[in-house]
Amino acid sequence: MRKEVMLATLGLRAGYGGKPVLQGLDLEVREGEIVAVIGRNGVGKSTLMKSLIGLIPATEGSIVYKGAAVERLAAHRRARLGVGYVPQGRDVFPRLTVGENIAVGGMRAGGVSVADRERVLGYFPILRERWNQRAGTMSGGQQQQLAIGRVLVANPSLILLDEPSEGIQPNIVQDIARIMVDLNRATGTTIVLVEQNIDMIRAMAQRCYVLDKGRIVAQLDRAALADGEAMRRHLAV
Ligand SMILES: Nc1ncnc2c1ncn2[C@@H]1O[C@H](COP(=O)(O)OP(=O)(O)OP(=O)(O)O)[C@@H](O)[C@H]1O
Ligand SMILES: [Mg+2]
Repeated sequence: MRKEVMLATLGLRAGYGGKPVLQGLDLEVREGEIVAVIGRNGVGKSTLMKSLIGLIPATEGSIVYKGAAVERLAAHRRARLGVGYVPQGRDVFPRLTVGENIAVGGMRAGGVSVADRERVLGYFPILRERWNQRAGTMSGGQQQQLAIGRVLVANPSLILLDEPSEGIQPNIVQDIARIMVDLNRATGTTIVLVEQNIDMIRAMAQRCYVLDKGRIVAQLDRAALADGEAMRRHLAV
């Protein structure tokens, strides 16, 4: 059975002020997929994520989510439609506790239900242990789990994850990858993942787009992901 397209971009262009970054980008992600976007530093991966969630405007082209054009919608409206965004560098509120950060994630829905909280803590038990701790005092890996938990509490249909492995110990990277794959299998949540960490890409992605200079220049299937030489070439700095 072929699943519905959940997210597509068509000729997407976006950038900063007068500086174009995305130069007519086309991609397509189906419901329930885990798709990685890879590429060297500065090719526009985070710019793509920011334009998908609506933090920077599309200057041309379209973004279709669940069959509707969303490129003109503000970020909070896209979030309300079920798009969850975990930014590069995590951006948890350092002075708020874990519990308070999770509460912020549930605000849009009018609060966090016990069921939603327990569901998130089921995926990330460390957040229960650290519930009353200030987020800024936790390790990078713990903060990353909190950033994902804060998005999960709102029950997104699509999660945009920007370099979740950055600055995190390898064993925690593997934990997070496994948890995200479990979540995807259990709930069918679609995941678009920006990454440069080969281990995380292999552990999570079913296929992968290669981004260079604001355009998709290659697509890799699962078999190609296993080709170490090709992967290193696409990721080489
Ligand atoms: N806020 C900004 N204002 C102006 N230019 C920016 C801004 N953010 C990024 N850029 C530039 O846009 C280009 C793409 O940046 P982007 O952050 O999308 O790259 P990236 O692929 O995510 O890189 P990295 O792997 O380092 O995270 C780069 O040339 C970068 O310097
Ligand atoms: Mg980036």
